[in-house]
Amino acid sequence: MHKINIAIDGPAGSGKSTVAKEVAAKLSYLYIDTGAMYRSLTFRALQAQVSEQDEQSLIELLKEMEITLEQQSDGEVQVLVNGERLGEEIRSQIVTAKVSEVSAHRKIREEMVARQQQLAKQKGVVLDGRDIGTYVLPGAELKIYMDASVEERAKRRHLENMEKQRPSDITTTKEALKRRDRLDRERPIAPLQQAGDAVLVDTTNQTIEEVVARICRIAREKENES
Ligand code: DC
Repeated sequence: MHKINIAIDGPAGSGKSTVAKEVAAKLSYLYIDTGAMYRSLTFRALQAQVSEQDEQSLIELLKEMEITLEQQSDGEVQVLVNGERLGEEIRSQIVTAKVSEVSAHRKIREEMVARQQQLAKQKGVVLDGRDIGTYVLPGAELKIYMDASVEERAKRRHLENMEKQRPSDITTTKEALKRRDRLDRERPIAPLQQAGDAVLVDTTNQTIEEVVARICRIAREKENES
């Protein structure tokens, strides 16, 4: 039995990160949240008053950022930038509203993809994002594309916001989600799309447990094959 690499892609609210975290815990793999890397850069850009359109300043900022993803014992990921802990602020509405523009720039993506490939050099990692199966790990042994109806995804995000006591209403959440989907799907560089060899998992009517169990089952088969 050999460890494999697992790529999980899909739009916001499809359940990717929850599922990726649980799959990684069940298989004793490392979970890498690539969205958190783009979010950290967006947060720093806001702090430094660098515009989301200013590719050159953004890449200069990124080159000075050492981003570390620390796995906690409860499976959660702690993001550190140059040793400093970032928390919930990378999930704020303002960061979420700007992150798609920041992540659309070619130089930013090239740098992030190189860092993510470095992190995934060892086998036994689960990466989630938008371009993992298509660009970051095109050779991943298992690729999953997770999706769900926009209504269901908006409902999940809204509930998550309420749980975490973030301001939220369902209509605004849905509109923001649709806008981010459009930007992520229509950008010219590495847009969100299903890799040809990815397994499509529609989570609209499935529980997290069902999805996790299915992915772990396929992963075990692939581990035995490799
Ligand atoms: O998964 P998330 O919502 O934390 O991702 C935030 C944004 O980062 C997403 O809207 C697009 C961008 N992103 C990306 O372009 N490529 C990735 N691999 C991960 C995220």
